[in-house]
Amino acid sequence: MDALDTFGRPLRDLRISVTDRCNFRCVYCMPKAVYGRDHPFLERRELLTFEEIARVARLFVGGGVRKIRITGGEPLVRRELETLIAQLAELGVDLTLTTNGSLLPQKAQLLADAGLRRITVSLDSLDDAQFRALNDVDFPVDRVLEGIDAATAAGLPVKVNAVIKRGVNEDQIVPMAAFFRERGHTLRFIEFMDVGQTNGWRLDDVVTAKEIVGALDGAFGLEPVDPSYRGEVARRWRYQDGRGEVGVIASVTQPFCGDCTRARLSAEGKLFTCLFAVRGHDLRALIRGGASDQELETALRDVWKARKDRYSELRSKATGSSPKVEMSYIGG
Ligand code: GTP
Ligand code: 5AD
Ligand code: SF4
Ligand code: SF4
Repeated sequence: MDALDTFGRPLRDLRISVTDRCNFRCVYCMPKAVYGRDHPFLERRELLTFEEIARVARLFVGGGVRKIRITGGEPLVRRELETLIAQLAELGVDLTLTTNGSLLPQKAQLLADAGLRRITVSLDSLDDAQFRALNDVDFPVDRVLEGIDAATAAGLPVKVNAVIKRGVNEDQIVPMAAFFRERGHTLRFIEFMDVGQTNGWRLDDVVTAKEIVGALDGAFGLEPVDPSYRGEVARRWRYQDGRGEVGVIASVTQPFCGDCTRARLSAEGKLFTCLFAVRGHDLRALIRGGASDQELETALRDVWKARKDRYSELRSKATGSSPKVEMSYIGG
């Protein structure tokens, strides 16, 4: 039987971070002041190998996982990621990946051939100057759009995620919606979250789902759509003219912990039961200590059964300042 946590939530999704590095320095995620030259990123030997990842993933699937998402940092900076994709494709689950899109022009076809089923690209602005400033490495928006086209050409369905921060890119809500519905990609707007401790989050910076939906409704007319599965993170809306849909991920103003079925594995093999957790459970120590499949599976189940996280529902000024892992470490 599948393990349930203390709130009766099953384990269904596994998000696997394959690196804590990224080729961008998005100002709200990896500010240069913190992630500059001397930042102590994980060393290669600290990372789980592809074989170690594939082994744990198989045990997770035995424990009820049906969707695996590869994340980072930026997952495509990990060399030969397609080799891992091929190993995970054998598990027969919904296999997807979240990327900043910069390396997709050269990688999309390899990933699709290896068995990736779909892809999510993070993109916060269509305005070139604004995008270059946001990623803070002067990366042009056209190259990300080329990446999206390459994924589409490789047969991968693409979703686009945009984080909206007040005073930075809320002017992009309507133009991005218009652009991506024209091209048939589902766009999801994400409320700016208080993840980690380096992005200087303030509640005032959050453009709420209500504001986002209001702007889109005014421009296009929207109708609500039912969730496509239990625990879906994004609330879905359809354009009234029937041309596609859009989503909003409102983890600050409308938390969805009640249905949260996600586990997260960091690049160094720590298991986190919440995006906002303070610490993870060290699976790498078990793996490299020679644990059997049986022992590992028991450990996974025990961690899940003890789970009582619901950070977003409890969020308050007090919890807002407690220590948390960084988004670039745990992959969102
Ligand atoms: P689909 O499988 O396409 O529905 O994607 P998804 O919504 O499960 O995953 P995706 O990675 O696209 O999620 C988008 C963003 O939502 C993430 O990058 C996070 O910022 C946020 N998010 C995802 N899961 C959680 C969660 O469990 N808690 C919180 N607070 N935010 C989450
Ligand atoms: N709030 C919301 N989303 C964030 N992301 C990174 N930092 C934050 C934050 N503070 C997003 C990225 C990417 C995904 C992995 O998480 O833009 O879409
Ligand atoms: Fe930007 Fe994603 Fe890289 Fe963070 S991990 S700096 S959000 S591209
Ligand atoms: Fe799940 Fe934690 Fe996000 Fe709530 S805050 S939805 S428990 S990851």
